[in-house]
Amino acid sequence: MGDKGKKKLRSESWFNPEDAKSAFIHRSWLRNQGYPNDYFEGRPVIGICNTWSELTPCNGHLREFAEFVKRGVLEAGGVPFEFPVTSMGEILMRPTAMLFRNLASMDTEESIRANPLDGVVLLTGCDKTTPATVMGACSVDLPTIVVPGGPMLNGKYKGERIGSGTFVWQLKDKIKNEGFTPEDQIEAEVCSARSAGHCMTMGTASTMACMVESLGLTLPGAAAIPAVDSRKKVLAQLSGRRIVEMVKEDLKLSKILTREAFENAIKLNAAVGGSTNFIIHLQAIAGRIGVDLNLQEFDTLGSKIPLLVNLMPSGKFLMEDFFDAGGLPVVIREMKQHLHNNAITVNGKPIGENNKKAECYNPEVIAPLEQPFLEEAGIAVLYGNLCEDGAVIKPSAATPELMTHRGKAVVFETIEEFLSTVDDPDLEIDEHSVMVLKGVGPVGYPGMAEVGNMDLPEKILKKGIKDMVRISDGRMSGTAFGTVVLHISPESSVGGVLALVQSGDYIVLDVPNRKLHLEVTPEELEKRKASWSPPKPPSDRGYVNLYTKTVQQAHLGADLDFLNGKSGDEVTRDAH
Ligand code: FES
Repeated sequence: MGDKGKKKLRSESWFNPEDAKSAFIHRSWLRNQGYPNDYFEGRPVIGICNTWSELTPCNGHLREFAEFVKRGVLEAGGVPFEFPVTSMGEILMRPTAMLFRNLASMDTEESIRANPLDGVVLLTGCDKTTPATVMGACSVDLPTIVVPGGPMLNGKYKGERIGSGTFVWQLKDKIKNEGFTPEDQIEAEVCSARSAGHCMTMGTASTMACMVESLGLTLPGAAAIPAVDSRKKVLAQLSGRRIVEMVKEDLKLSKILTREAFENAIKLNAAVGGSTNFIIHLQAIAGRIGVDLNLQEFDTLGSKIPLLVNLMPSGKFLMEDFFDAGGLPVVIREMKQHLHNNAITVNGKPIGENNKKAECYNPEVIAPLEQPFLEEAGIAVLYGNLCEDGAVIKPSAATPELMTHRGKAVVFETIEEFLSTVDDPDLEIDEHSVMVLKGVGPVGYPGMAEVGNMDLPEKILKKGIKDMVRISDGRMSGTAFGTVVLHISPESSVGGVLALVQSGDYIVLDVPNRKLHLEVTPEELEKRKASWSPPKPPSDRGYVNLYTKTVQQAHLGADLDFLNGKSGDEVTRDAH
């Protein structure tokens, strides 16, 4: 490298510039960590972008993984530097980890651009850590490879599979109606988190891992390998080797993240029964790399795709079963007639070729295309006067009988009102009602929390009812289920029609015809709008203020408006 005819590496402008003083400064301080001369003589410099944090338990093992990536980078002749970026643990962060996805993406983008890096390895795991780092990396557009941290081992409780997240949504019912004791609860807590790794249902983290593999951003088969399986370490090492080659080939993100790659990801997400959060993250990634993708396309491309994977929350197995059955490569092979098989992936080969020999070892977990678990599994996009810019529902997680439903609205103006009144025996609600939650969108919560799958009222659960139609401008955990309409856009806090719904109004949900309609006349809506005023902003300073002023609505991916697109990898001025 650095020889005549070879493209100069980006890092060489730091380590081998004409100016001796600059070269001294850039190399000398790094040497305090004990690097030999040849580290600065034209070897590809690889950044290992680590979302490790003890406060993000799903990513708690990623420090160890970074060592395996380093091993691979060194073997291939590169030079690795690990660096931290903002991590987001889904479980602990308040008000919601999603509020910080865009912040972490900025951190990732600027950390990559500002440093002497030629290629990047993204170490990710918990839900938001994958899209955030990919979004940031897209805005720089260097050669980049993702190493998903992997799911936890299957949860097992009293001999039964217990899915992380999914079990939580059943807890209220179990305590109220099935005699579940505090001791049972403590035992179940341990049983649902047996090992390092992220949620082992097809929740958002597994969905994101499948998304990056479908986009071609991982080595084949990466998504489903459990975090503690030795093969995950091998994957990290091989990814370290491969990124060095990618730098030499100048295989940048924009060469992989083509329109075809995005279409493949939408179709494969449907086939695996992935989370509704997939939409919002994929759109944000597309916005960064410059591929035009609108909400309607998720329905057009994905809704008729059959469900091939039998994993919770739509089905009964877990990620370890998925891995043992052959993982995503089997789904990619089964789906070949629907995919752009020539889409290039990080190993330089087309996705179709990478996966053509994948074998299914358990048809109970991964079905053949001709005998799917469900004929149509993708996400449906709804329109109507209640969601002029769209709303989404995941039919595979919903109750078929409720997919066409007309019911009276029971409105909760805020999440606090919902929590304090839902179990009130005097609440006027029955199983035919439509539960409506406002103020949980990108601006309103703020951060568009995963509260759309509201718990049912106690008195309804006691009747043995497990599902009702629920609608909101929020999101739902990928581990959740139910007839839940989400991502209503525009949201209530910016004056969407959702803000004007009152208890007692009739709402029509018609998923087959993709409609969500509020049966209130335009004149009455005008009247209500005239007396509506927006809620007080949650903060007048800091990041939250910046976020609420610039966040885009859900149908656009909820990125900050000034972050769309990319600035590339060039930095014209030095610090010295
Ligand atoms: Fe981190 Fe589910 S809480 S992946």
